[in-house]
Amino acid sequence: MPTQYDNISREYTRLAMNDRFKRYLQYPEALRLAGSLEGSMILDIGSGAGLLTEQLAQKARVIAYDNSREQIAQALANPSHKAQYFVADPHNIEDIIRKNFADIKFDKAISTMVLMYSQDKSELEQFFASTFNLLNDDGAFSSIIYDPEHKITDNQGFQRRWTMKGKKLSVDFLDENGNTITSADFNNYSREDYEDAAKKAGFTIEWMNLVPSKEGIELFGQQYWEQHMKNPAYIGFIARKN
Ligand SMILES: C[S@@+](CC[C@H](N)C(=O)[O-])C[C@H]1O[C@@H](n2cnc3c(N)ncnc32)[C@H](O)[C@@H]1O
Repeated sequence: MPTQYDNISREYTRLAMNDRFKRYLQYPEALRLAGSLEGSMILDIGSGAGLLTEQLAQKARVIAYDNSREQIAQALANPSHKAQYFVADPHNIEDIIRKNFADIKFDKAISTMVLMYSQDKSELEQFFASTFNLLNDDGAFSSIIYDPEHKITDNQGFQRRWTMKGKKLSVDFLDENGNTITSADFNNYSREDYEDAAKKAGFTIEWMNLVPSKEGIELFGQQYWEQHMKNPAYIGFIARKN
């Protein structure tokens, strides 16, 4: 069955390439949380079409997975891609890695705007459990998620509109004129849900506030970002093995 991102793959990748939250907040902060990359072995979880993955792959060896065939097909269609990509999910990724790379272990794992798309808490736990098993003992898992503490207000973030849809949250990705390009639904887990799932796997989470890049501030101004920082929609964490 096609996944949610199979259905919105093209529109999502096109908007992600120019999206200011991705380019000047999520991607640079994902790189900052990951730390030094040179010579490391990295697992990119929910890589999408590989926009951030290929930045990582400039400096490290990267193996990436996503459960959307369409997103992985787009990543592989990039003629200069360096990372290795697999269609997989947190339930089968360990088997796939073992089959292709024997007992390889990763120094770092990252996931950017992925975990809240897990179908339920059991899949969220599986994301942490499989990542724990694939990391070296001193490895770390850094992640950026929708901030469960974000308050949905009428004055919503530029380029996004969030609404409750039953028990789920729905995000509309907007163009410069406020028209919806595409939409996605995800679970509104609490910070405690993430901490519990991480703890079950054997991790401890450290929450990290995100700051925009210098380039983003130069382009859009301090005031634009301050508006966002008053009620941030995104937060990061680093999960370390206990
Ligand atoms: C918002 S996109 C982020 C893509 C990429 N990390 C980025 O920041 O550009 C979320 C991605 O998570 C993937 N995803 C959602 N649920 C997943 C699951 N259970 N297993 C693997 N990938 C999943 C989607 O297919 C999609 O590509």
